[in-house]
Amino acid sequence: MDLLDSIGGLSVDQFMRRHWQRAPLLARGAFPGFVAPIEPARLFELAGRDDVESRTVSASDGRWRLEHGPHERLPPRRRPGWTLLVQGVDLHDDAIAALMGRFRFVPDARVDDLMVSFATDGGGVGPHVDQYDVFLLQARGTRRWRIAPPGDASLVPDAPLKLLANFAPTEEWLLEPGDMLYLPPGWGHDGTAVGECMTFSIGFRAPSRQEFLTAFLAAAADEPGGRDPRFTDRGRAPTATPGRLPEDLAERLRGWALDWRPSAAEVDRFVGRWLTEPKAQVWFDAPAPLAPARFERAATRDGLRLDRRTRMAWRGRSVFVNGEAFEVPAAARRWLGRLADRRLLAAVECPRAFAVPGVAAMLGDWHDAGWLRIGAAPAATPDP
Ligand code: SIN
Ligand code: CO
Repeated sequence: MDLLDSIGGLSVDQFMRRHWQRAPLLARGAFPGFVAPIEPARLFELAGRDDVESRTVSASDGRWRLEHGPHERLPPRRRPGWTLLVQGVDLHDDAIAALMGRFRFVPDARVDDLMVSFATDGGGVGPHVDQYDVFLLQARGTRRWRIAPPGDASLVPDAPLKLLANFAPTEEWLLEPGDMLYLPPGWGHDGTAVGECMTFSIGFRAPSRQEFLTAFLAAAADEPGGRDPRFTDRGRAPTATPGRLPEDLAERLRGWALDWRPSAAEVDRFVGRWLTEPKAQVWFDAPAPLAPARFERAATRDGLRLDRRTRMAWRGRSVFVNGEAFEVPAAARRWLGRLADRRLLAAVECPRAFAVPGVAAMLGDWHDAGWLRIGAAPAATPDP
């Protein structure tokens, strides 16, 4: 599917310069004649699975209720005022993954997921802010959105959700199928279903310093080869002040901290691995492995595409796939970079790619791991 070519009457280039991370934009008819590629029944089924993250939210008499999935049973559809939210629907459905592909004018490394919400009349998750950029695409039915600029962030005490206590909306719109609202991080928003509706949230992530350092330091502390020096104090004299922190112990620990300097290459490698790490609940279905010659024949006949769950990126001579890093020569990187950018290699490209040393073996391994599929277009059927 092609990239969106305009958003709310602006070219994507104008949108990125004027609105991205800066200002909300209501795009009426962003997807003209839009028909949701997923039915509520399929969403309810996903909500029952333990490898799918889902929540239900409802409110009655001003009291909010939040329940985490898997949901064996959902409230009756005729009961007003409840919402089901299913995260990462793009990981389970090729049509939804293809829809996300229309937003690939933003780098994949910034993409989080596509969440689908289903709500009965009056349902919503209350006024809140997200830390992420989001496109709220109205997929089915109508929803009223009210938004407020970043400001008073105080929260309703003792609520099971983070709800803005003093939400003061400045704008309000009724969105119909195909309409889309872009919100930068930090904008207050509150969406209420008007009749039964479905909304798609195309969400983007931006790491915080704390998130990055927490992950990086944990990985760095876990040095390969199990090298983990331990403090020793053989020959220590008896102490008369047992409450005092021993100088040798404090100095040794200080030394470990001050002497620790990751190299730029180590950090870069971690960054690529971290940014392509699949979410915790992702697993790949490995197909029957193919012998190298059969793999090359099948790819040359039908082409190759990344599995919808695969996260892939490249930078310089490095290629990162699903949390793994590969350093490759320039010619191989060109083909692998092309695969990362387009998420496919056409059948006619495969012989040229396979002529570059190492490429066929690497792609064959990825195929056997379930990261890469034979066939340049996804099959019409979603996963079971
Ligand atoms: C919803 O779809 O109900 C909530 C989406 C959001 O506020 O981010
Ligand atoms: Co939100």
